[in-house]
Amino acid sequence: MSTTTVRAGLEGVIAAETRLSSVDGLAGELIIAGFQVEELAGKATHEEVAYLLWHDALPDQAQLSTFKAELAGLRELPQATMDLLRAVAERRAPVMDALRMAAGTLSLDLPDSETKTAVPPEALALMARFPTIVAAYWRLLQGQEPLAPRADLGHAANYLYMLFDEEPSEARIRGLETYLNTVSDHGLNASTFTARVIVSTQSDVISAVVGAIGALKGPLHGGAPGPALDMVFEIGSAENAESYLRAKLERGERLMGFGHRVYKVKDPRAIVLAAAAEKMFTTDQDNSDLYDLVRHVEQTAVRLLAEYKPGRNLQTNVEFYTALLLHGLGLATDLFTPTFAVGRVAGWTAHCLEQQRLNRLIRPQSGYTGSRDREWRPRAER
Ligand SMILES: CC(C)(COP(=O)(O)OP(=O)(O)OC[C@H]1O[C@@H](n2cnc3c(N)ncnc32)[C@H](O)[C@@H]1OP(=O)(O)O)[C@@H](O)C(=O)NCCC(=O)NCCS
Repeated sequence: MSTTTVRAGLEGVIAAETRLSSVDGLAGELIIAGFQVEELAGKATHEEVAYLLWHDALPDQAQLSTFKAELAGLRELPQATMDLLRAVAERRAPVMDALRMAAGTLSLDLPDSETKTAVPPEALALMARFPTIVAAYWRLLQGQEPLAPRADLGHAANYLYMLFDEEPSEARIRGLETYLNTVSDHGLNASTFTARVIVSTQSDVISAVVGAIGALKGPLHGGAPGPALDMVFEIGSAENAESYLRAKLERGERLMGFGHRVYKVKDPRAIVLAAAAEKMFTTDQDNSDLYDLVRHVEQTAVRLLAEYKPGRNLQTNVEFYTALLLHGLGLATDLFTPTFAVGRVAGWTAHCLEQQRLNRLIRPQSGYTGSRDREWRPRAER
């Protein structure tokens, strides 16, 4: 095989067929299991989206109640997982590392079931327990005791409760569900691809999700919504925006929260999250000053990017409004990527199930670029 056929980063390569989501970068369109993201994200509960991804249909009322109860019943962590989190917190490891380590222990108390179910217990446990792991670890880092999950709350509400020890308002629950739904699946991104490669060897779903967490942790994927927000805070006021952004571009720096490898028009997830953030900041919280500043920074940035990088179509990406929305929910920036994982685990597990159903081992080839004619020399002669 000639190296000239290699596509760096597999860019443009279609490596799987999926019914789970479709990303059209030129049209600026994201479809999740048949729904435009704008149609689904702000209306569904996160349990409905997970059910939709796993079963390819929305649940009816009875199915949803059973599913919610099933997930709520699995939220508690095995004792060994909690012990591990306490040990990791003493080392103050990043939250994504704690999530990766804890996720690997989740098979400990699952039944060794012989009977095949549509959704295996590992997938249910991963989805049910990610919020418990992240919230418990976060509280340990703050020197607080973890809170036991509450089975009477929905998935998103219980996550907020376990983080803040306070029953969240409907508006905050809606804001978080919109975020989790928006990021629940996104084609064959790096972490989803990782998960599919792992299950394609007939390995298990927990191993696949542990690998996916590792891939999501990297700054080129899980992204850094934190810096986008830091930039807005540094700008501070609308009148500073243009000079600050211009100076950054003059220095050849990138504006965080703009540009995307696939989307060449505005990222549809940014549109959904901007609307959710507007609702949260202007109607529910009356903190419209920050929201207005963010809008002004966005408009100025898009205008200046067109001036400095003509023809590049650099538009607002998902990270920009993720930062604003999660900040509005009271989440510290260190929780942004772990909360992305809380939403994306629905997609990862759905892809694992899809890969298992249609499985063919994923095993591409490599173009060899090393030498071919080396001769062995005894150690003493090297
Ligand atoms: C997301 C990103 C990595 C995609 O990059 P890409 O499609 O590979 O684009 P490239 O890195 O090839 O950049 C193309 C050109 O646009 C410029 N560019 C891309 N994004 C830019 C940004 N956010 N600010 C300023 N310039 C940018 C590059 O400097 C490059 O310019 P040049 O050709 O004059 O050197 C890139 O847009 C970026 O770094 N954005 C900021 C970080 C961010 O928001 N990440 C979260 C993504 S969801």
